[in-house]
Amino acid sequence: MKKSVFERLLSLETPVYYYDMDLFRKTVDLLAETATAHGVKVHYAVKSNNEERIMRYIASKGLGADCVSGNEIAWAVRCGFPPESIVYAGVGKTDKELTSAILAGIGAFNCESLEELRILDDLAGRCGRKARVCLRINPDIDAHTHQYITTGLEENKFGISEYAFEDAVRIVKSSPNLIFTGLHFHIGSQITSVREIFAVEVAKAEKIVDWFESQGLRVDHIDLGGGLGIDYDDPDGDPIPDFKGWIETVATFRHRPDQVLHIEPGRSVAAQCGSLLSRVVYVKEGRTKDIVILDAGMNNLIRPALYGAYHKVDNLSAGFLRETGPEREYDVAGPVCESADVFGTKRLLPETFRGDLLAIRSAGAYGAVMSSHYNMRGDAPAVFSDEL
Ligand code: LLP
Repeated sequence: MKKSVFERLLSLETPVYYYDMDLFRKTVDLLAETATAHGVKVHYAVKSNNEERIMRYIASKGLGADCVSGNEIAWAVRCGFPPESIVYAGVGKTDKELTSAILAGIGAFNCESLEELRILDDLAGRCGRKARVCLRINPDIDAHTHQYITTGLEENKFGISEYAFEDAVRIVKSSPNLIFTGLHFHIGSQITSVREIFAVEVAKAEKIVDWFESQGLRVDHIDLGGGLGIDYDDPDGDPIPDFKGWIETVATFRHRPDQVLHIEPGRSVAAQCGSLLSRVVYVKEGRTKDIVILDAGMNNLIRPALYGAYHKVDNLSAGFLRETGPEREYDVAGPVCESADVFGTKRLLPETFRGDLLAIRSAGAYGAVMSSHYNMRGDAPAVFSDEL
């Protein structure tokens, strides 16, 4: 960050989400170019960040959207995503949500259970429409990531498992209002062994696609989900995630020219361009360590409390406003009345004082979208680097 940017940030009320729009645009542009070069279609996972400016820019690049609720679909359409570019996953889509999505004419319902298929067929019939359907497959693959964000193991609630494949084929074939389009996979999030893990997904998905085609279904749409990880330890090292490694691996999928590969990145798109900015309210001196208490809390960014996730913390004031001495060890906590409201323990920071401006890094994805009003606390608004 440049000093001039920091100086402008100093006038902001905190907590606030700050988005570096140059980095954001560079990231999206590279994603779009890499995907186009390999003939892969991208659907941005709206759940990761639904800021209007973020959404509109992604839509303007011709990417589609991956939604998981009726509200996300309505919002994506308002932000410029054409309905036919929208895919819709989720294990608990309600009748109301399904009906609005049928009427909107979305690109594909990624159906997660046999019962959902039957209900979707029935609702589409009542609307006098046909619904394009992909089966979300549970491929039973271990993505080697946090247990809360592993989604492709048989014990997870997501997708249709192998034991139900034959029934799924039967239902699809006998449902007059469903147009079978393809298969959908998503094995987890924050995957860092990119080429290795996604190659396992590709190999398994190829077998499953072959099996469905052997049953007389044409699998035109092959969606391999999201999951590309980012570097939380060193957000400045290489702030643009490994789209090349991911998309090249996905593109090795053996497919005919009439079959299109799709992916659904979320975290990798906006995580590194966002920081949660917060001021130090107090520095509480302890017997063994000091605790920096911020005006941002777990209600603004829940990842550390929920997943034990690491987010780098930078003291911007120390970096820009004064000569700093040796670093000291601090716990960095929020003000919420929960012991879990801690952003980091034993963090090495320059000597830190009340009023310092701190940045909690890599917070652009699964940050603001997961916030709550616990303790009647407010939302952290968004500011964009090019509007300061
Ligand atoms: N597609 C599907 C079907 C998904 O379930 C997800 C994420 C994505 C795509 C996007 O995955 P990504 O590229 O972001 O890894 N709140 C957690 C992450 C939950 C991810 C849920 N599904 C976190 O903060 O780490």
